[in-house]
Amino acid sequence: MKPMQPVRGTSDLMPKQKSQMNAVVETATLIANRYGFQDMETPIFEFTEVFSRPLGASSDVVAKETYSFEDRGGTSLTLRPEGTASVMRALISNGLTQSLPQKFFYAGPMFRYERPQKGRMRLFHQFGCEFIGSYNPLADAEIIGCAAMILSDLGVLDKCVLHLNSLGDTKSRDDYRHALITYLSDYKHLLSQDSKRRLDENPLRILDSKAVEDQQIVENAPRLPEFLTPQATEHFDQLTAALDTAEIDWHLDPTLVRGLDYYSHTAFEFITQALGSQGTVLGGGRYDGLSATLGGPDIGAVGFAAGIERLALLVDQTDEFIYDVGVILADDSASSVGFAFANKLRSCGLKVDIPLAGQVGKKLKRAALVGCSLCIIIGETEIKTDTIQVKIMATGEQKQLTQIEVVEFAQKFFEQKQESI
Ligand code: HAM
Repeated sequence: MKPMQPVRGTSDLMPKQKSQMNAVVETATLIANRYGFQDMETPIFEFTEVFSRPLGASSDVVAKETYSFEDRGGTSLTLRPEGTASVMRALISNGLTQSLPQKFFYAGPMFRYERPQKGRMRLFHQFGCEFIGSYNPLADAEIIGCAAMILSDLGVLDKCVLHLNSLGDTKSRDDYRHALITYLSDYKHLLSQDSKRRLDENPLRILDSKAVEDQQIVENAPRLPEFLTPQATEHFDQLTAALDTAEIDWHLDPTLVRGLDYYSHTAFEFITQALGSQGTVLGGGRYDGLSATLGGPDIGAVGFAAGIERLALLVDQTDEFIYDVGVILADDSASSVGFAFANKLRSCGLKVDIPLAGQVGKKLKRAALVGCSLCIIIGETEIKTDTIQVKIMATGEQKQLTQIEVVEFAQKFFEQKQESI
């Protein structure tokens, strides 16, 4: 039988990757808390309309990427492809629309049926922050500031460029949409198949098409910033003034439209060149109309989400798991005592390995390989004489101690080691 493999687009998070991802989420949680974003969690699946309405039927995510299925009761459910719609649904379901603003942080798995490649998975993880209940451009600045500080603390901000655009209010977008359709219609025969379809459904998405034939046409297309209403311009100017004062670098990108339909005004992405074609590590924007598409009142809101796998790839982390102590069993008669000893040391906070294969020499080698700085050697003789051999791995120095002395010695040894770092 052929060995079983994980489903295409999914992968096992083995200890090294998992610990890198945990470190990313830990940093993000810490910084998000400083801004007042509180941790929350929504279910992994929702009624299909929770996503189809706000994300837009013509968005790629809804049109071709959702994992939707009927449950045994015939209800259409969808595995969440992103967190924002669920968070807004949760705010409404929990009766919080009268207690605004609310600031949420979340982290967890998302599902999109995309074409897998490096940095693009069908099952991936995001963390995100949502600032719900304000139309003030300072809320946009807070969101972007929080994202930048997380990337900075992860040590990757200097590998990213913040692309920023304004999609304006409804009037700005309607005017622009009209101008764009007029311009693109003249070139319809030259557009890619996908963009021909988008011309009627969602022409703004043509702006960030990756097809070379589309990009040439888009180059001379009318630009969104020229169609912003005075109010939309004012919102954008206030945001950029706040970013400039806080010395957060940004780059105006008039073709940045984002892939989900719910955005208005601010849209932004932190993009790196270091990950190949999947270089967007974090993206977000304002979504003032989302609440109403879910049956809630009009609520101003802005947020972002980041790809945890992408950030983990970018973070320069070489930390391997390292043990403190190796318990070396010289013969089988020492197993029980050795096991009890290892546990005693673990309860003092030390990381202890008991190498199980081979003779003493091979066990010592394994202990050195997994980073043990101290080994204790126990055999029949030691048990009879109530002694234990202790080996300091860096110097090779060996000592004979009593069982009680060993625990104290190990604790002191690691305290001193910690102080000398
Ligand atoms: P998004 O741009 O679709 O936005 O996703 C945010 C981030 O998730 C991306 O920048 C990327 O790092 C990561 N990501 C997306 N798809 C994949 C994939 N297939 N494999 C690996 N990583 C991926 C949203 O999801 C919005 N909910 C963000 C938001 C929050 N807007 C307002 N609030």
